[in-house]
Amino acid sequence: MPAIVIVGAQWGDEGKGKATDQLGDAIDYCVRYQGGNNAGHTIVVDGERYALHLLPSGVLTPGCTPVIGNGVVIDAGVLLDEMKALADRGIDTSRLLISANAHLIASYHVTVDKVSERFLGKNKIGTTGRGIGPAYADKISRLGVRVGDLFDAKILRQKIEGALEQKNQLLVKAYNRRAISVDDVLVEFLGYAEALRSYVADTSLVINQALDAGRTVLFEGAQATMLDADHGTYPFVTSSNPIAGGACVGAGIGPTRIDRVVGVIKAYTTRVGAGPFPTELLDEDGERLRVEGGEFGTTTGRERRCGWYDAVVARYAARVNGLTDLFLTKLDVLGGWERVPVCVAYEVDGKRIDEMPMTQTEFHHAKPVYEFFDGWGGDLSGARAFSDLPKSAQVYARALEEMSGVPFCGIGVGPAREQTVMLRPLP
Ligand code: IMP
Repeated sequence: MPAIVIVGAQWGDEGKGKATDQLGDAIDYCVRYQGGNNAGHTIVVDGERYALHLLPSGVLTPGCTPVIGNGVVIDAGVLLDEMKALADRGIDTSRLLISANAHLIASYHVTVDKVSERFLGKNKIGTTGRGIGPAYADKISRLGVRVGDLFDAKILRQKIEGALEQKNQLLVKAYNRRAISVDDVLVEFLGYAEALRSYVADTSLVINQALDAGRTVLFEGAQATMLDADHGTYPFVTSSNPIAGGACVGAGIGPTRIDRVVGVIKAYTTRVGAGPFPTELLDEDGERLRVEGGEFGTTTGRERRCGWYDAVVARYAARVNGLTDLFLTKLDVLGGWERVPVCVAYEVDGKRIDEMPMTQTEFHHAKPVYEFFDGWGGDLSGARAFSDLPKSAQVYARALEEMSGVPFCGIGVGPAREQTVMLRPLP
């Protein structure tokens, strides 16, 4: 079972790092295929907490080669800081491979991200402000600077000039900001060239050769299905394709290579930033989920919006990703509620809809139709087998599994690696 994709099934922060971590020593390569340092994986290993933003989580597994694929946008300063912070804690980052075709995030992308959000006012997306959208916009407009360009100073200057020509007009004339100097960006980028040179590789070739040799490769999605630029709640999405198909584009593998697609889904729902969220709780129940679930962003520290589990979203994620497995996380957080609602369908303008509505307008109007489950008391964190879970937690988990049509491979009952009920082996 060599190629596995792990993808968020909701709006992000489902605990993908924990699911990845379950694979432990079984993974030879861990590949990020989209996004940038807008991501935030929190992984707890041997009681030590690691918050990763750009590095693949396999960097924490001895013997695993972490790979940053061509589909990722890289803020090189952030990457080098993250590598140094891990090295200072005794983690070896020397095996890291970075695609020469990955695009670079420059300071001007961060500036444009922040000013354009400000100008959107009440229509803002609520981005992480890390320059992700503007970097992908430049990629598609063919104005991007790629990692491979760092090693040719003449080309690098030309590309930065090209990227800044329009942007400086925009910054000065529309946004009333100072123009950004080509030389400043060039000096900064050339400073990264030497530091990164030894990590740069033809990662598509490396990954395909690894698969040919029967190695296990994990493709690690950042963000999630509902934040996908094509299949999420556009325009309140990120600027890449987190869905499983994005792994082909963002890592340079064919779709026939993928053997297993694991969706990670939380036992309730959270979302950061703006956009529709049918099961959102704006009352004290939402506050209780936030506090008991520790729902504050790893990347920005922002409070996450919280709500009940949405089975329509789960079914949709199963469809657009072709999920073979679901990994349910944070079931322990739901302990202590008298009853636990699950959204099983939507009511849109007086009509019941069982699938994701087709248009943005309908999704904005969607009201959850709830089914109620008995709650359970006590602490689940000691459970290691399904039968260790309280009866009503078992009923809840089995019902979610049935509604999505995808078997659970594991259930998280606490943040640590071992606080997991494994149902189907990974890989
Ligand atoms: P961007 O990715 O910074 O452009 O932000 C676009 C949207 O995606 C915003 O609503 C962000 O809050 C959301 N977002 C980006 N990365 C993550 C993540 O890792 N977890 C949850 N939401 C995210």
